[in-house]
Amino acid sequence: MAQTWNAETYAKNARFVSDLGMPVVEWLNPKLGEKILDLGCGDGALTAKLQEFGCEVIGVDSSPDFIHSTQSLGIDTRLIDGHHLPFNNEFDAVFSNAALHWMKQPDQVIEGVWQSLKLGGRFVGEFGGDGNVSTIQAALHTALRKRSLDPDRINPWYFPTVEDYQSRLEARGFRVDEIILIPRPTALPTDIRGWLATFANPSYTAAIALPERDAFLEEVIALLKPTLCDASGHWFADYVRLRFSATKPLNLLKH
Ligand code: BEZ
Repeated sequence: MAQTWNAETYAKNARFVSDLGMPVVEWLNPKLGEKILDLGCGDGALTAKLQEFGCEVIGVDSSPDFIHSTQSLGIDTRLIDGHHLPFNNEFDAVFSNAALHWMKQPDQVIEGVWQSLKLGGRFVGEFGGDGNVSTIQAALHTALRKRSLDPDRINPWYFPTVEDYQSRLEARGFRVDEIILIPRPTALPTDIRGWLATFANPSYTAAIALPERDAFLEEVIALLKPTLCDASGHWFADYVRLRFSATKPLNLLKH
């Protein structure tokens, strides 16, 4: 089942997602007057930062709740799935933070980004890379398998290696300027139950009959506690980010 979002619980359990997103804004290096597409703008926290740089920003997201909250910040937003970008040679840059791992047809997304950009435009982003939340995912998959459910049919996330993503970008014609994998264990503002409620629900939980869901989550939490919860009861998530910067070359023939 497709992920759905609630901007209010997201703010409580996941504010760190935009708080930790500033390094990728620095990679983007937005300049006054640039036209920028924020792909998967979420609740608009970073989209608003781009606007503060004096950029003309459009945010797109597939979640109506996120679109509503981003619009309430006075940002031009559109309800659009990142697999179906409708833009044509109009942006100086496409920016994306913590969204591309929800888009499971990366070549289709990269094609849409390419079409959206002007010649010389930049595609700069960060999302979950190879090994991201692997402890959490392994626990979810163990609990699914125990119920004879196939995790591969449910897994909503795409966490590529550097080589995988770089080769997809280059296959479309992008010049990859920089691409790195960054392990970033992250302290959670609430706990793993809050994280699962925000990020694995309903994408993972919908496969479990309603009366069984609490038991399923308890089992996942018990599996994670020895590894992700410290002696004082503070929870961490084993995040790994893939950060990249790529350019649509000015001269396509020379590339
Ligand atoms: C992430 O931002 O890396 C992430 C978000 C949701 C689920 C899994 C990972």
